[in-house]
Amino acid sequence: MKRQNPLTAIAINGSPRAGGNTELLLKKVLEPLEQAGWNCRLLQIGGRAVRGCSACYQCFERKNKRCAVENDAMNDFLEAIYAADAVIVGTPTYFADVSAEIKALLDRAGLVSTANDGLLKGKIGAAVAAVRRGGATHAFDSINHMFLMSSMIVPGSIYWNFGKGLNKGEVLNDEEALRNMNHLGRVIAWLGQAVAQAAVPFPEPPIDER
Ligand SMILES: Cc1cc2nc3c(=O)[nH]c(=O)nc-3n(C[C@H](O)[C@H](O)[C@H](O)COP(=O)(O)O)c2cc1C
Repeated sequence: MKRQNPLTAIAINGSPRAGGNTELLLKKVLEPLEQAGWNCRLLQIGGRAVRGCSACYQCFERKNKRCAVENDAMNDFLEAIYAADAVIVGTPTYFADVSAEIKALLDRAGLVSTANDGLLKGKIGAAVAAVRRGGATHAFDSINHMFLMSSMIVPGSIYWNFGKGLNKGEVLNDEEALRNMNHLGRVIAWLGQAVAQAAVPFPEPPIDER
């Protein structure tokens, strides 16, 4: 069935430094989506006390679209993600990987999705990384691994979804990164609109995986 507007995008900032480079990049991605009439939210997970997956597998028993660990804020993030059409995950590069909060998010969002017949399938997923010098490719991959294992659709932009900077705000000097982020937002808007208009159901998984 054809979807009605507004489409929704959630951007999640994995840096504990609110207002820092990761957040600035995410805002650049959201700008064209807002202009296209999308309902956009930026959520801050960096710096929050969220734990990693406890591997209790209770999500497979309960199948209630929630993580069984209820003593932190993760389920608020999962709810927002599962309700969105597009999810943009932003991380600072920490020793060539994602921040600990983003790793916790990826593991718990991915497992709860799998336990509930694929809550992420068919959603658009985009990864963004802030970096001083090196290692962003690996952080970018870490996010995309979960997206791609969850049947999400990953759009590309004109170059890497990275922005360079060490101190807060320095990423604004990386003009190529800003152009890339703007283009990424426009591609997400285009793809989301196309998917919403497609009126074709997402393919069922192979019978053994249901
Ligand atoms: C714990 C830690 C590890 C870092 N590791 C790297 C790294 O491997 N490569 C790199 O280029 N920058 C590294 N950085 C720098 C950050 O990626 C960079 O400052 C980024 O812009 C921070 O984004 P933010 O402003 O959103 O916090 C590291 C910073 C911290 C605090």
